[in-house]
Amino acid sequence: MSLYPPPQAPAPASQDLALRTIAHISDLHFGKVDCATLPALTAAITAAKPDVVAVSGDLTQRAKSREFSAARKFLDTLPKPQIIVPGNHDVPLYNILKRWRSPLKNYRHYISDDLEPFFADQEIAILGINTARSLTFKDGRINAVQVANACRRLTEHPESAIRIVVTHHPFDSVDQARTRDIVGRGSMAMAGFAGCGIDVILAGHLHTSRISNSAARYHLPGYSALFIQAGTATSIRQRGETNAWNLLRVERDAIAVDCFTWQAGEFSVAKTDRFVKKSDGWTIRTTEP
Ligand SMILES: [Fe+2]
Ligand SMILES: [Fe+2]
Repeated sequence: MSLYPPPQAPAPASQDLALRTIAHISDLHFGKVDCATLPALTAAITAAKPDVVAVSGDLTQRAKSREFSAARKFLDTLPKPQIIVPGNHDVPLYNILKRWRSPLKNYRHYISDDLEPFFADQEIAILGINTARSLTFKDGRINAVQVANACRRLTEHPESAIRIVVTHHPFDSVDQARTRDIVGRGSMAMAGFAGCGIDVILAGHLHTSRISNSAARYHLPGYSALFIQAGTATSIRQRGETNAWNLLRVERDAIAVDCFTWQAGEFSVAKTDRFVKKSDGWTIRTTEP
């Protein structure tokens, strides 16, 4: 029997007039997946009919060929286009030679040779940035060239298009004083992103679902982006939360985020957060329920 039967899940709870929808999944961790979640995730995402699927890294547990092969088979069941970035688990940990000589060889072979995947139309512009490094085992890093390139590519499109960056490592965590979980050179990157009006940053890594405003951590006058962090969609490596993923419904100056969680053998909407864009950036409007 196929692991991926045809989708039969119900449509998402709310589909109100979004101009674009983005399914955001993260931390699949093939090698440590709960197999029951896979066909359910395909069904739920297919039913949502997203314009883009964003995958924010850690596709595998140990960057092995068989894990990447399984990840590739799964990704092929999801709608396209897909914006995928690697995570720290997609770089070999124990094979030192591979870690230094060709850290993303398997990722490039099975997933994509493009480490800056990009999609844009009249409504959204979305770019993936690789924050996984050989030098920093668990932590990630972003550099000035990546930030400059992101700003150049994301501003080539209509002023009204919502500008979205996808990274594995997050720019924020629950504890304001804790910087260990945050991508290296995050402050430099946020100053650059403020300069080119990045609206949303999608990330993973922490295996918890969370949305916050950048202004709470990065004090940049007149600027507040949305940090949207997805939990682990399919992995048994949970951090006190069930498996989850997000569906973003994007309008010009408003974004709703449905958080789908794994409940009773299917993914269903547990919470919807709504945000609006004002003169000083993105701010929360309502949370349901
Ligand atoms: Fe992870
Ligand atoms: Fe990670």
